Amino acid sequence: MIDLQHVSVAYEDTYALRDVSLSIEKGEFVFLVGASGAGKSTLIRLLYHGQLPTSGKVIVAGQRVNELRSHDVPYFRRKMGIVFQDFGLLPDKTVFENVAFALRVIGASRRDIRRQAPLILEMVGLDGRCDALPAQLSGGEQQRVAIARALVNNPPLLLADEPTGNLDPETSKGIIDLLHHINLRGTTVLVATHDQIVVDCFRRRVIELDKGHLVRDEEGGAYFNAVIQSSVPV
Ligand SMILES: Nc1ncnc2c1ncn2[C@@H]1O[C@H](COP(=O)(O)OP(=O)(O)O)[C@@H](O)[C@H]1O
Ligand SMILES: [Mg+2]
Repeated sequence: MIDLQHVSVAYEDTYALRDVSLSIEKGEFVFLVGASGAGKSTLIRLLYHGQLPTSGKVIVAGQRVNELRSHDVPYFRRKMGIVFQDFGLLPDKTVFENVAFALRVIGASRRDIRRQAPLILEMVGLDGRCDALPAQLSGGEQQRVAIARALVNNPPLLLADEPTGNLDPETSKGIIDLLHHINLRGTTVLVATHDQIVVDCFRRRVIELDKGHLVRDEEGGAYFNAVIQSSVPV
């Protein structure tokens, strides 16, 4: 689903990513961790053609991202759902209308919207809140709307950049639980986060960046590398 080969991203005075190679198979659930400034958001942006690498290859769903022509980018992005920290909802539209709007953008008919929007909202646990405005929802509920919207294409890939960044720990676990549930239905999920609690709670594959370098790729990992932690003298 995702293949990075010797990818670097350089800015004038610094590298955001340096010679990063990794591969994520279809159906995986992966946490991308690292301190603020480690390069997580840069890596996520490469995957949806939000930014191009300075060098190296980025391949997503069989498509070499560097070679996309600009008029193909919107079609390419329909293969993925993207969720950010700041939910990005339309504030004057209800929950239902936010999802309906996303369906309309991809060309769904009114009949499809009436049929599909309630199903998607039910899946994210919001079927009772269809008529609420974003401001009337909790942060966790707003993020559920954002996830619902990201799922309208039934995308094979879901990218989330700090999806729990604005949420308390309990709500965060609920959101990651939902992403996990989506993963179990077959969607590949990549979550960039510096939220230690959720990473330690879910124990999935962990890829760690440190100042742009890939420093760990571990199945069932915790937020902090156990080997480094236990070797620190007390
Ligand atoms: N537009 C930019 N210009 C210069 N440096 C940038 C820019 N965007 C990000 N960076 C730098 O790249 C590094 C990685 O940033 P980022 O990918 O946002 O990290 P993270 O998401 O892990 O916090 C940081 O050092 C950041 O300052
Ligand atoms: Mg970031």
